[in-house]
Amino acid sequence: MGKKNHTKIIQITDLHLGKDKNKVSFDVNTFNSAKQMLLHIKKYEGDSDLIIISGDISDDGSDASYSNLTELVKPIEIPFYLMPGNHDSVEKIREFSRFDNLNSKLYFEEDPWFVFMFNTKKNGSPNGYLKNDEIKVFKDILNKNRNKYFMVFLHHHPVKIGSPSMDKMIIENAELLIDVIKKTKSVHGVSWGHVHNVYETRINNAQLFSTPSTCYQSKPKSETFIIDENERPGYRVIKLYDTGDLESEVIRLV
Ligand SMILES: [Fe+2]
Repeated sequence: MGKKNHTKIIQITDLHLGKDKNKVSFDVNTFNSAKQMLLHIKKYEGDSDLIIISGDISDDGSDASYSNLTELVKPIEIPFYLMPGNHDSVEKIREFSRFDNLNSKLYFEEDPWFVFMFNTKKNGSPNGYLKNDEIKVFKDILNKNRNKYFMVFLHHHPVKIGSPSMDKMIIENAELLIDVIKKTKSVHGVSWGHVHNVYETRINNAQLFSTPSTCYQSKPKSETFIIDENERPGYRVIKLYDTGDLESEVIRLV
């Protein structure tokens, strides 16, 4: 068997776990919904290299909600990378990332790719915001590795998705990232959560897309936040090939 020619990433997002496992949001038990998805991933995506949880892991930032996450990830033997969303506690994510297969960091290398996971949480606001120090590290590494490829994960969206209620919460200074994508050819993928539905576009060499939530879904392009009763929870499979190609698809649970 030849050497594997890609890194396979699973992205799950917006679990909205409460301190109480019986918590129900918009008619969905968020703990059970996340559990069902992780068991599905264990069964069908066991060849994955890593799983990224792109924020809103917790709904209330409580210790108990992150303990509930550790219970959910325990049966999965794939490393997890945690990122904060607007509902999360950045400190608690750092604290809980010491457990078993949980990690939290700004970036890691999967040669020839660099994977960046920005913290877009803006304190005291549901909106997104990029931190200058994180963008500086990103630009430095990009400049020093012109022959490598870059995959970026965010919690918030860096482009408008055509839904006024969501677009109010866009990353306020997203141009810091978009300018880099326009100026270099190295960024090949950008993915986010937060919007609880799928949006896809392209800028220069980069595919940009969102990933559905593990719990309730929202209607795309709606004026206000409306639950999409007909859409199922989903996750995204992202394959980063050694050639720089990126393949991705959304899988919905039946
Ligand atoms: Fe969010």
